[in-house]
Amino acid sequence: DKGGHKHFMAKEIAEQPHVIGEALNHYLTADGTGINVPESLPDFRGVERLVLVACGTAYYACVTAKYWFERIARLPVEVDIASEFRYREPPVTDGTVALFVSQSGETADTLAALRYCADKAAHVVSVVNVPESSIARESGTALPILAGVEVGVASTKAFTCQLTVLYLLALKAAQQRGHLDADALTDRLSALRSLPGILNHALAQDRSAKKVARKLAEADDILFLGRGLMYPLAMEGALKLKEISYIHAEAYASGELKHGPIALIDKRMPVVVMAPKDKLFDKTVSNMQEVMARGGKVTLITDEAGLDEAGDGVTNTLVMPTVPDDLAPILYAIPAQQLAYHTAIAKGTDVDQPRNLAKSVTVE
Ligand code: F6R
Repeated sequence: DKGGHKHFMAKEIAEQPHVIGEALNHYLTADGTGINVPESLPDFRGVERLVLVACGTAYYACVTAKYWFERIARLPVEVDIASEFRYREPPVTDGTVALFVSQSGETADTLAALRYCADKAAHVVSVVNVPESSIARESGTALPILAGVEVGVASTKAFTCQLTVLYLLALKAAQQRGHLDADALTDRLSALRSLPGILNHALAQDRSAKKVARKLAEADDILFLGRGLMYPLAMEGALKLKEISYIHAEAYASGELKHGPIALIDKRMPVVVMAPKDKLFDKTVSNMQEVMARGGKVTLITDEAGLDEAGDGVTNTLVMPTVPDDLAPILYAIPAQQLAYHTAIAKGTDVDQPRNLAKSVTVE
């Protein structure tokens, strides 16, 4: 049942405020000042290193989480795609917590990477959508993301629910490791509580995203740029777009632009820049200006303050509500999804069942 939407993907994009609210209800204490985790989860005070492993979109959730765990919880994090991790023979010691993220819980490479760690790591944790899946069953602790069934092959609501659970886990680790006092935690949790309402505002920009997407649909190649927490989001935006519209898209950390990809810039390749007005904004904007100086046509996804400061000369803008820096990845996932969705519609591709792809990748 598509619930009145044309595609499962549209339905699942629209469900995000609701399912994230469900995840928050599950993980926050009744008074809203604490985070509930299962007893089996180890205390992060004794953890030396966190290893995050996944494939595809779930991997981009892990890359985002690396920034959170390092910055907020001061915990060293390694992140890798499962197909590389499993064959690298990486040393995994008993001070390590190994964490696997998977919507289906059946991804062959992720499961193999989990099995590699099972007898080496101190503890194996998974963040999954399907609670009875192999990955959940074989983990010491399985944390559900509570996104509900995801039918569209391109992952949308599972991604933002993964981000929500990983962010809560980073806060829990920060609290246990003495880097977040009770007041700071309460502030962060109340900001998180207001996120579903804010996501509704982003969803309401669908028509603007559709307009931009009509132009993107004419391109053969599209570049996504972001810095810091927006770098994994740029990668997710590019993946979503190529999966369902079949347009070649690539993402770069904006600081990498001048190390090669700037040679690609011309007026025929649209560049999508994801940049809320955070501490790295000016850096990203100077990269964006280098693109525009070479005739590149920029779509800037930012907030009001970012638009005021850097909107001049930009071809298209999508304006997001203002949120605390650490919550921006969950919010900016929405325009990334909307752009991919409407570009695919403009191209007439099969949004829910893109060619060559399966929802659950149970062979390597
Ligand atoms: C992208 C997508 C895939 C999956 C990947 C991992 O939209 O759906 O990249 O994210 O195949 O799948 P799970 O999360 O089931 O392990």
